[in-house]
Amino acid sequence: MCGIVGYVGHPNQGREYFALDVILEGLRRLEYRGYDSAGVAVYADGEIGWRKKAGKVAALEEEISARPLPESVLGIGHTRWATHGGPSDLNSHPHVVDGGQLAVVHNGIIENFAELKSQLVAKGYNFVSETDTEVAATLLGEVFHNEAGQDLTRAMQLTCQQLDGAFTILAIHAQQPDRIVAARRDSPLVIGLGEGENFLGSDVSGFIDYTKSAVEMDNDQVVTITADEVQITDYQGAAAEGKSFHIDWDAASAKKDGFNSFMEKEIHDQPAAVRDTLMGRFDEQNKLALDELHIEESVLKSIDKIIVIACGTAAYAGHVARYAIEHWCRIPTEVELAHEFRYRDPIVTEKTLVVALSQSGETMDTLMAVRHARQQGAKVIAICNTQGSSIPRESDAALYTHAGPEIAVASTKAFLAQITATYLLGLYLAQLRGNMFADEVQSVLQELRAMPEKIQTVIDGGDQVAELAQSMKDAKSVLFLGRHVGFPVALEGALKLKEIAYLHAEGFAAGELKHGPIALIEEGQPVFVIVPSPRGRDSLHSKVVSNIQEVRARGAITIVIAEEGDSAVDAYANHIIRIPQAPTLMQPLLATVPLQIFACHVAQAKNYDVDQPRNLAKSVTVE
Ligand code: G6P
Repeated sequence: MCGIVGYVGHPNQGREYFALDVILEGLRRLEYRGYDSAGVAVYADGEIGWRKKAGKVAALEEEISARPLPESVLGIGHTRWATHGGPSDLNSHPHVVDGGQLAVVHNGIIENFAELKSQLVAKGYNFVSETDTEVAATLLGEVFHNEAGQDLTRAMQLTCQQLDGAFTILAIHAQQPDRIVAARRDSPLVIGLGEGENFLGSDVSGFIDYTKSAVEMDNDQVVTITADEVQITDYQGAAAEGKSFHIDWDAASAKKDGFNSFMEKEIHDQPAAVRDTLMGRFDEQNKLALDELHIEESVLKSIDKIIVIACGTAAYAGHVARYAIEHWCRIPTEVELAHEFRYRDPIVTEKTLVVALSQSGETMDTLMAVRHARQQGAKVIAICNTQGSSIPRESDAALYTHAGPEIAVASTKAFLAQITATYLLGLYLAQLRGNMFADEVQSVLQELRAMPEKIQTVIDGGDQVAELAQSMKDAKSVLFLGRHVGFPVALEGALKLKEIAYLHAEGFAAGELKHGPIALIEEGQPVFVIVPSPRGRDSLHSKVVSNIQEVRARGAITIVIAEEGDSAVDAYANHIIRIPQAPTLMQPLLATVPLQIFACHVAQAKNYDVDQPRNLAKSVTVE
């Protein structure tokens, strides 16, 4: 789950930047992918220079300031989330072999590294690190000089034929100093096209400052980039074509914009994320038109089951979606964690629609579940935020959320955008299959269009939540209760606190309380309660109000999220966070926001790194 960048430009190109500038900028943007060590290698004056350091990219930058590297127009960089070998200077990438002439960075796990290593040891090679990467680099160097006749592209093709597992590898060699050669299998890599310069990155944010033109490549392919050329082949050497695309993301949107953290900024981006996800999805008659679906209408009409697969926050968006899709489409809908789905022998047929939700489009568990579903004959629609990523590429169709780059590890705006996109899909299916009349679809769309402004109102009231967070920062545990769509919101609120504030937190279905969790309640226990609209199903509202009373009576401090004008909660709430009125199914788009703000401020009050919490990576590209 590491981040990888590569840059090659013309020598004497007269640009204001060098390879190192591009690479360090790319690493800062890709740091969300892993941040326990970082390194770069550049070519200049006949040799390769490199620096690598345990810690964040900032530590690498300090190292480079102390021991500068020469100006160069060719280089590679890496930011690591350790798998093989702990985070140390030695285990950091690049791994430089072949007498200092060959530098390699790698993302993924090479499963047969032990076997390859013993073969190389038998040939007399020594290893200095504990990593699988050094094994791949050494093998590449060996093949370069022997079978490949000192051709780095050929060497990469032949080496990859011997590797098992998932990997993206970038290599530069001092004997072919005009090129970077890279390969991928089940691990991300995109190519950026410039004028007299080209780029590589784990995703487009690796080079978003320099070009909007990108190419995605398939699995089991090798790419060679020089300043003027991009050549893709398979591992056998046969030429292949990449798929070009225009990068929609704005470089400025990957900056903090004066906020303390990316997470805070991304919370503030949410009205735009929802608005942009709704945009461009209607025809001239204002009817929902999801042109990008590319699945025949007859197939969509014949679906008899939907399974949403996802991990983490995306799975909670799936849980919210289930309530809406079943209600609107009357299609039985399941939500399953991607890693569980694959191994439980799920019942999937040609009439099953699988919806894969993923911000990054690279979560390996979700990708594997997509493959499994397609093998069983299901159609798969990816709902994804990252162009050029694997999950949409391997699905039958993709519906993009337009949340812009999400950098903070804890997902916020992608969650709201995912809910919005699944709602569009649900309404589209309902329209297509005739489950809803056109005016009913229009009235829900009207409600959705009103959400960005309401989300803004919740964000504007964030100070109250920030104060609450400050006062509760020393809590030992926080509980969250919700019913119906409020239940996944409760789960998401708890996940945010665990992820960034390292605070024990749990979300419960409020109805489940008396079946066990109520035993946890003692004097002073903070409990958030998400209260559904009293204007919706009355029984739902009154039951949740009873739940507040039950925990309050046992000493809990109740923090109630309730809509404007709902006075039924007043008597039982220690704190009330008001959100604008909205229909039940729209409420998650509002009620989640204070929970995000709360977690963000608790983490800040505890002086934790809000954007890069310990042990986590944003994009989990290993199973
Ligand atoms: C990781 C991240 C979570 C994220 C999950 C799914 O666990 O830390 O924030 O929700 O992956 O990621 P995806 O990119 O597939 O939405």
